Amino acid sequence: EFNDRINIAIDGPAGAGKSTVARLVANELSYIYVDTGAMYRAVTWFMTKLGVEPECQDEVLRHTLNMVLELRPGSEGQKVFVDGEDVTSYIRSTQVNSMVSRYAQIEGLRTHLVHLQRQMALRKGVVMDGRDIGTTVLPDAEVKVFLTASVKERALRRFSELSDADDMSLEQLEKDIAKRDALDEQREISPLRCAEDATVLDTTNMNIQQVVTTIVSFCKSQRDGE
Ligand code: DC
Repeated sequence: EFNDRINIAIDGPAGAGKSTVARLVANELSYIYVDTGAMYRAVTWFMTKLGVEPECQDEVLRHTLNMVLELRPGSEGQKVFVDGEDVTSYIRSTQVNSMVSRYAQIEGLRTHLVHLQRQMALRKGVVMDGRDIGTTVLPDAEVKVFLTASVKERALRRFSELSDADDMSLEQLEKDIAKRDALDEQREISPLRCAEDATVLDTTNMNIQQVVTTIVSFCKSQRDGE
């Protein structure tokens, strides 16, 4: 049993296994899982639907502040709702994949989502995954992990989770992931980078259970005073 409530930050590039691992760690500890990428994806899906380009920052922001964005835990993982509509599958499309980094660069949008994310973590007991959790959203998280894997391995993992994989070859996906990594690493506000006090876990040759067990043991040693 894990009674102490701490916050756990899991960061890393696309396809490193963050969401699967974070969800399973949350299950083991009876914690709440927060997928922050899903929040950027939901905004992207909504803007695409409204036809608001990422260049129109003021308009993006106006619509984002008005939309009701909810993460609800479900039996098959977290579900994402925009204004009451279940958009969980829509936000995994290739269109959202290709556009999300551009919306995620908008400073006001990030400020707003970071604010929502911090609120979700106030009472602790949260496993949050993203790009900037250990560095920006929860710099005081008790456990910080940076998950990586080779681009090839990450493309393979993403291929199996795409909702419309038929439209895309594995090779194309590998290129897209490398491009998205570069955009996420090079953006000015909250770029993807490893926090100084995070533990780096290269998962290329690890299975999911090994990664989960490793992180849960970090949490236990943190609780027991290192
Ligand atoms: O983890 P993901 O692929 O669902 O994330 C989707 C996009 O959102 C990704 O390209 C980077 C962005 N993102 C971000 O900028 N900050 C976060 N905390 C989470 C995701």
